[in-house]
Amino acid sequence: MQPPSREFRVDRLRVVIHATPVAAAAAVSAEIAARLAEAPATVLGLATGRTPIPVYEDLVRRHRRGEISFARATTFNLDEYWPIDPGDEASFRRFMEERLFSLVDLPAERRHLPDGAVAEADVERACRRYEEAIAAAGGVDLQLLGVGRNGHLGFNEPGSAFDSRTRRVRLSESTRAANREAFAPGAVPRHAVTMGLGTILEARRPIALATGRTKAEAVARALLGAAGVDVPASALRTHRGAALHLDAAAAEAIPAAL
Ligand code: GLP
Repeated sequence: MQPPSREFRVDRLRVVIHATPVAAAAAVSAEIAARLAEAPATVLGLATGRTPIPVYEDLVRRHRRGEISFARATTFNLDEYWPIDPGDEASFRRFMEERLFSLVDLPAERRHLPDGAVAEADVERACRRYEEAIAAAGGVDLQLLGVGRNGHLGFNEPGSAFDSRTRRVRLSESTRAANREAFAPGAVPRHAVTMGLGTILEARRPIALATGRTKAEAVARALLGAAGVDVPASALRTHRGAALHLDAAAAEAIPAAL
């Protein structure tokens, strides 16, 4: 593994800049693998999107080599579109099945995602139950996170309170545009169900990964000035156990003086 090219703290958050996206993802998957090896009954918080794909690929490779097992692990995903059929090709449930669940030994009853198919009248109750399930599992140990182009975490769009909980949210037009490739024209859902920033910040170890130039502006905004609701990813700065792994491109707009 290549050594990180730079590491520093912004408030409580540890920021690690790696030379390449591969090195950044490898650092994240190595930490997840080490945790699983040390504590097999770990509760993992999982993320979707393009960014964590190399993390899942590496975890699957390690599983195939016999280095790690998910047999005693429990997982909770950050978010899901709403409404969406779990079998829909664009659903996060399907993403997880294809990228991880069907490829490792994680028991089906311990794979959790917010329910994107729940009726409108039952959304709130389903969100409460999701929080209760996380609590019943003992809370999330290690929470994998991506960063949206507008600085969102999960589907917590700008303006989300740092103490927000799992809830239904309206997606911004920029987020819908960023995710439109997975859907038929005009079919990107307008809503989603997401863990709140408060839920995410209760994880013992939130680990965010951002790679590529399209994330550079959001990353810089998250790290510069005061943390605030305009940039949800800046909430990570309030957590002593949190880390943000970047590649050089995503770190491009961070001033050298930081
Ligand atoms: C979606 C997800 C986020 C993810 C973001 C970035 O909006 N809800 O959790 O971090 O996209 O995705 P990508 O990694 O594809 O840039």
